[in-house]
Formats: sequence, structure tokens, C-alpha cells
Amino acid sequence: MRILSGIQPSGRLHVGNYFGMMEPAIRLQNEGEAFYFIADYHSLTTVHDPAELRANVRDVAVDFLACGLDPNKATFFRQSDVPEVTELSWLLSTVTPMGFLKRCHSFKDKTERGMEATHGLFAYPVLMAADILIYDSEVVPVGEDQKQHLEVTRDIALKFNNRYGEVFVIPKSRIRDDKAKVPGLDGQKMSKSYGNTIEIFGEQKPTRKKIMSIVTDSTPVEAPKNPEGSIIVDLYRLVASEDEVATMETDFRAGGTGYGDLKKRLFEALWDHFEPMRQRREELLAAPDYVETVLREGAERASASARPTLERARKACGIR
Ligand code: ADP
Ligand code: TRP
Repeated sequence: MRILSGIQPSGRLHVGNYFGMMEPAIRLQNEGEAFYFIADYHSLTTVHDPAELRANVRDVAVDFLACGLDPNKATFFRQSDVPEVTELSWLLSTVTPMGFLKRCHSFKDKTERGMEATHGLFAYPVLMAADILIYDSEVVPVGEDQKQHLEVTRDIALKFNNRYGEVFVIPKSRIRDDKAKVPGLDGQKMSKSYGNTIEIFGEQKPTRKKIMSIVTDSTPVEAPKNPEGSIIVDLYRLVASEDEVATMETDFRAGGTGYGDLKKRLFEALWDHFEPMRQRREELLAAPDYVETVLREGAERASASARPTLERARKACGIR
């Protein structure tokens, strides 16, 4: 089974990225032939400073490895080290109806938030389809917000296969139902764009401060509180055992425990959860050559898989 996913190097990775995409991807590396990449071409739609882009790529590489991506099991590479994907993206764009792209929420959301409406931002899902199809991917682990892009990918692959014959494998998304939408500090989906994130590897003090700023109602300390839909409980559930969650829910209902104390408990649990990964990250930060070697070797393996697919697609449409 070929498993593939990508993540953009457009800022520090957060707890939503971890539970929505990284953790499932890391688990899947034991179940098939996994390909994971850093989507730097995609990030050019939002990151316009070359030095910042390079630093972000390095950070994502270190952070993903620290979280448990094992380069002996998974192929880990930079998207741009396999430039064949941009050629495939062009071939796919010639079968992609404008309607597919006009429907995509992500372009609308980003331009409504003031981002420039470039062709790259609009055509983003076609490049993503090329990422997926060029490696004959079968399973794509992503968070809920990428579901529509996966549907577009399937539709584009079917269009191409209809016109030119069975060139592409039709992929499936793998979206975990329990953790696919991690809430941020304000209760909206946790996202860089909403400024409501908890970083996986933030410093201790600012992370505690962020968690203490989680939005709650104004129920006084002594009064019973409703755990249903509480951001504190929803985040705690990601890192605590069932018993610990049950205890927190009982403390909510009983009254006598203030939101401040409950948030402290959440902070401790989150901080402890990522502690082993923080230690691994320190080691990786001290070994930049190792990280670079992992990405280079990954790119070689990825290229070897991409070239035959691109050849197949070129031949099918009459390019030689
Ligand atoms: P952001 O919204 O912060 O810009 P990205 O769009 O770069 O995050 O998402 C990278 C990956 O992490 C995607 O697979 C996405 O589905 C997943 N992801 C992002 N935010 C969340 C969240 N709050 N809950 C679950 N998964 C998420
Ligand atoms: N669009 C994805 C995101 O923002 C990143 C991505 C690019 C991706 N290409 C991909 C994810 C291919 C899965 C498969 O999170």
C-alpha cells in the first residue's frame, strides 16, 4: 500500500497539525510504503521571503523527525527536489475544468482574508493532485480541511483516465473522525491563519500563557461547569487517558475547581506528552547534516517512483 501526505512549511507546526495529520501519518509508516514530503512549492503561495522559506523547511523537517517520522520506514523529502511534479501538474491542468477549482473553499477563504488572488493560489489543488498521483498513492492521511482537495484529486484523475486510458491510481483520503478537527484557543479550528494555535515545540512560558488564555464562559469557581463542548476538555482528550478525562469531567460537573486550575492540568498533560519529542528535537537540531542527508536520500527514492508515472502520463497524451 502506498501512503502519501504533505505538509506546507508555512510556519511553526501546531497541535492541530500533529493530531490531524502527523500522528496518523507516523502510525501509517508501519503499515505500508509511506512517502511524506514538505510542500515548499505550495508554500510559495503564502511565504514570499526566501530566507524564511528555507528556515521553515528546516524546521518542519526537524519537527516531523522529532515527532517520530522514521526515515528507515518512510521516504521523507522536499517537494521541490522532485520537480517532475510541476510538469505533471501542467498535464493535469489541461483536463481540469475551471468549475472544480472555483468550488474549492480554500481559495475563497484565503482571498477573503486578504491574500492576493494569484494563479498559483487558484491552481493549488492541481499541484496537490500531481503530488498524490505521481507516486501512485492509494491512501492519503490528512485533516478534515483537506477532504475537498482529495475529492478534486480523484475527479482530476478520473478525467485524465477517461480521456487517455488508465494512467493513474485513484487515491482515497484517510481522515480520522475523532481528531480530524482540533479546536484552537478560541474554539474555532486550530489554524495558523486564525492566530489561535498551540505550537508543538513552543517555549514553556509562552505555551502556558496561551493555554491560560483559552476562551471560557464566566462560571464562578464554586459553580458546576459543563464539560460538553469545552475547549479545555476537547484538548485534554488528545493527550490524557480515559480515566484522566473522566476525572476532569467529574471535576467540571462537581464545581469547586476553577477554569484556571483545569487549564493548568491541560498544560501539564500537553507539555508531558511532547517531552520525549522535545528531547529528540534537541538532538536533531545539533545534527543538520543528518537531516539534510535524510531529505536527499528521500528525494532519490521519490524521484525513482515519480519518473515512470510522469513518463506514462506524457506518453498517454502524446508528448514524447
Ligand atoms: P493551518 O490551518 O494551520 O494552515 P495546514 O493547512 O498547513 O494548517 O494543515 C497541515 C495539515 O494539518 C493538514 O493535513 C491539515 O488537515 C491538518 N490540520 C491543520 N489544522 C488542523 C486542526 N485544527 N485539526 C486537525 N487537523 C489539522
Ligand atoms: N495542501 C496540504 C495542506 O495545506 C499540503 C499538501 C500539498 C498535501 N500536497 C499534498 C497533503 C498532497 C496531502 C497530499 O495541508
